[in-house]
Amino acid sequence: MEFSASTVAPERVEADLLALPVFADAKLGPGGSSLDRALDRALSAFMEEAGFSGKPGETLAVPTAGRLAAGAALLVGVGKQADLDLDGLRRAAAAVARRAGKAPTVATTLLDALPRSAERAAGATALAEGFVLGAYKFLRYKSDGEPSELDHVVVLTSARSRLQPALDRGSSIADAVAWARDMVNTPAGDQAPVQFVEQAKRRLRGRKVTATVMDVRAMRSEGMGGVLGVGQGSSNPPRFLKLTYSPRGARPGVLALVGKGVVFDSGGLSIKPSSGMETMKIDMSGAAAVVGAMSALDELGVKHKVVAYTPLVENMPSGTAIRPGDVLEIRNGTTVEVLNTDAEGRLILADALSLAADDDVDAIVDVATLTGACVVALGEKIAGLMGNREDWVEQVRAAADTVGEPVWPLPLPSDMRRLLDSEVADLKNIGGGGYGGTLTAGLFLQEFVDGVPWAHVDIAGPSRASSDEGYVVKGGTGFGVRTLIELATRFHKPRS
Ligand code: BES
Ligand code: MN
Ligand code: ZN
Repeated sequence: MEFSASTVAPERVEADLLALPVFADAKLGPGGSSLDRALDRALSAFMEEAGFSGKPGETLAVPTAGRLAAGAALLVGVGKQADLDLDGLRRAAAAVARRAGKAPTVATTLLDALPRSAERAAGATALAEGFVLGAYKFLRYKSDGEPSELDHVVVLTSARSRLQPALDRGSSIADAVAWARDMVNTPAGDQAPVQFVEQAKRRLRGRKVTATVMDVRAMRSEGMGGVLGVGQGSSNPPRFLKLTYSPRGARPGVLALVGKGVVFDSGGLSIKPSSGMETMKIDMSGAAAVVGAMSALDELGVKHKVVAYTPLVENMPSGTAIRPGDVLEIRNGTTVEVLNTDAEGRLILADALSLAADDDVDAIVDVATLTGACVVALGEKIAGLMGNREDWVEQVRAAADTVGEPVWPLPLPSDMRRLLDSEVADLKNIGGGGYGGTLTAGLFLQEFVDGVPWAHVDIAGPSRASSDEGYVVKGGTGFGVRTLIELATRFHKPRS
């Protein structure tokens, strides 16, 4: 999708569709006379009859009778004037994109709905994101799928500021999210670890990110018992993908991204019930978010070195699978008694975190569809956020807030650590008891970061959407990509 900015008057702009924002609480008439008030009431009654009140996300196609240069007009609700923020703009843009699937060129005055004080550049970025993400469809397996025909958006504005870089930024970010969505939506049968690596390499071509791939042999010599253990039950062998973005004249401070890449989670021998397994192709959402984010850093001119670590496995039951009671040795020498093979994410992340911590990075953030308990606690839209350093966790929270990806802090209570004590090994992989499963998972991960500032984002809920809403489309959401990009962009080394 292409974006351009223009100061042409809306009634004269040539486009297939002109999208115009309407506030839920604004007067429509031009002024305060009693005549205008009457007009106002008549118009709002008309809109009400049409089921349109300017609420966020509502749209109403209106006749133009040839009085606009654009072929058609679409009103889009943006809610109350004082409440409109960047995320509201993203949602409104997405609503337009959904309605404009057959209009190749859309012009819109949406940007000028933001309050005058708001930064135009940030608004333009959000608009572009909303258009791309709202138009997203996953059609790879549809014989009669109709891809959106929308390919050019003209952002009309009265302001003089140069918006092109901000529009391009939004488009790059959204493309990275869309790539992650494609990966999440792809069935596990077409996405073994080897294929995940191939797709990642393809995405990174020409993007100044170098990839190193470890196969089973390489992981053996590195002592990565977590990844190898979880991977041993599948006939699709595991891989470990490491990506490095190292811009010339990098600013001080190296950021590490870690993503859970379970291409399919059957639970292993501790097998899931069929209902719990239906969506488990999404269990590589963390890895997809990390690779998606890495793929945009060069284009966006990120100034810090960023290194990504994604363990890729398929968790399957078989004659070669790990059994409950087996003991694995993680890369850092810690032994883990595997009491439940469905708590596999933490086993592969343990190896990855230990590798990152040894690589002399200044801060680590991991993104993982780690626990069903997190969905119970925070619902399907909010990610859980934990960590070992207040200021680093706060940095991650601020980045997520800025881009509109909802996260909520959860504790890592040190007195719960004993729930992970094992009778036979250094640790066991479940807390037992059943309560606070997100926290015991976080406490488990903390054992492998060797004191390096670390934050953990549990995206079990928001990695997948059960319905279309705003710029989110049913299926894989690409949650985390935008937070990670924002984090890399404004990274500052946490104080030690
Ligand atoms: N991948 C799942 C977590 C998950 C559940 C993600 C639902 C998305 C939606 C994870 O590997 C898992 O199975 N966790 C177990 C842990 C338990 C065995 C301690 C869980 O949450 O039940
Ligand atoms: Mn599992
Ligand atoms: Zn899992």
